Amino acid sequence: MEASILFFRACLALLALPIYLLSFLGIWQPFCKKVFFPFFLEHFSAIHEKKAKKQKQELFRNLPDFRSPSGELKLLEIGTGCGANFQFYPPGCKVTCTDINPNFQQGLLRSMNKNQHVHYERFLVAAGEDLHQVPSGSVDVVVGTLVLCSVHDVNGTLKEALRVLRPGGAFYFLEHVVADRSSWKYFWQQICYPTWKLVFDGCCLTREIWKNLEQANFSELNLHHLSIALPWTPIQPHIVGLDPRPSPHALSQPVPFSLTERADTNPSHLTSAQPKVLY
Ligand SMILES: C[S@@+](CC[C@H](N)C(=O)[O-])C[C@H]1O[C@@H](n2cnc3c(N)ncnc32)[C@H](O)[C@@H]1O
Ligand SMILES: *[C@@H]1O[C@H](CO)[C@@H](O)[C@H](O)[C@H]1NC(C)=O
Ligand SMILES: *[C@@H]1O[C@H](CO)[C@@H](O)[C@H](O)[C@H]1NC(C)=O
Repeated sequence: MEASILFFRACLALLALPIYLLSFLGIWQPFCKKVFFPFFLEHFSAIHEKKAKKQKQELFRNLPDFRSPSGELKLLEIGTGCGANFQFYPPGCKVTCTDINPNFQQGLLRSMNKNQHVHYERFLVAAGEDLHQVPSGSVDVVVGTLVLCSVHDVNGTLKEALRVLRPGGAFYFLEHVVADRSSWKYFWQQICYPTWKLVFDGCCLTREIWKNLEQANFSELNLHHLSIALPWTPIQPHIVGLDPRPSPHALSQPVPFSLTERADTNPSHLTSAQPKVLY
């Protein structure tokens, strides 16, 4: 098993040799961050959106439950990328976008124009591990989708999410994760791992992110394993769910969230003038 993984890894690396060479020369990483990954992500997001739309609708359905007593919903997104989640946010939701890479303007602008029901409050170039610009306990909801695969420090990122959330707020996630060890998918992930990480801006295929979430000291982890139909890719196994921070009033019950279908959707008619200031 080990030897065959190494063999196929080497084959894949050979196929991607030009990229390894560019990387060796220090050219690939900046090109990837500025040009390739933003281009790739915009197209990939469109595909992933189609495949994961139902799950995301179901996941984000109860966002309004986390409005603060004043009726506002302040939401912070970690690793916003091209803004693949804006369409699921309720009208009037005040969004702070953060990403470590400021080169997603094109995709972001397109997504913002399509989703004018949301208030785009701030764009911070910040790592999930260090959100020092955001005061503790200042947001109602933190969202991260397909981002814990790429951060350097999953625990540190969850710790920051917990810090910026107000008591009773919640962390929402949808992540691809490592496959079952006895499956071919796992074998395929092991083969792709190094080249995938190089090509796709640090994305790790083999993280057991549910373990970090289980140990992250939120309160009532509500987590589901599921498979998103992305045939031939090593990123089919996903986890989805939310984790509320304990509420001081102890009113917050475990939040009901299941992946059963419900008919109604949430059409948003509200529009508003939006700031177009990006990172
Ligand atoms: C696969 S993309 C997902 C983007 C978007 N959340 C989505 O669901 O389409 C991963 C994103 O995480 C960002 N990212 C990577 N490392 C990060 C870090 N340490 N802190 C914040 N964002 C990070 C990348 O720049 C990229 O925008
Ligand atoms: C993350 O935190 C968990 C529990 O606190 C710990 O078991 C694990 O080793 C940590 N992971 C890393 C990479 O530090
Ligand atoms: C969770 O809380 C416990 C007890 O308060 C603490 O020992 C532990 O380090 C915390 N874990 C993380 C990942 O912050």
